Amino acid sequence: MAMETTLIILKPDAVQRGLMGRIIARFEDKGLQIVGAKLMTIGQELAARHYADHQGKPFYDGLVKFMTSSPVLVVAVRGVGAIKLCRNLMGATFGSKAEAGTIRGDFGSSNSFNLVHGSDSPESAARELELFFEPAELLEYERPIDQWVYDHSSGSPE
Ligand code: RTP
Ligand code: MG
Repeated sequence: MAMETTLIILKPDAVQRGLMGRIIARFEDKGLQIVGAKLMTIGQELAARHYADHQGKPFYDGLVKFMTSSPVLVVAVRGVGAIKLCRNLMGATFGSKAEAGTIRGDFGSSNSFNLVHGSDSPESAARELELFFEPAELLEYERPIDQWVYDHSSGSPE
């Protein structure tokens, strides 16, 4: 498993409901490292670029309206296999279907107000990180605790 960085967005409902700290804690508790963070309001053009794959779908206009309606917290999260790990922590797309124990399963019941976005592949992660962060805004820093988060006996974190 490779070291990966993924883009997580705490959506407007997460910010408005005061859930930022508790949602970030889910990623931190898993041992993942926060390497970038930005509170911002997403504009129309950025929303359209971010959700380009969904253009033309019935839920697209509502999705863009929601994502641009109020500030979001954009977070870059790093770890071994971080992309899939984060998707697992988030749970299924719809809050009504997401398993208990996941972020969407524990904090929401709406389908469209589903609290978090996470990149779904290495290609999406690279594309989305570039949309939201300048390279210098993604920090490289050592955490002594990584000696206990990962087994380094093979020479690389596992
Ligand atoms: P996300 O991109 O936000 O991480 O969510 P996802 O991969 O689990 O879901 P995706 O299929 O990429 O859909 C993006 C967002 O669009 C809204 N949606 N609504 N009403 C619908 O059928 C529908 N389908 C998707 C959700 O807010 C979803 O997170
Ligand atoms: Mg998606």
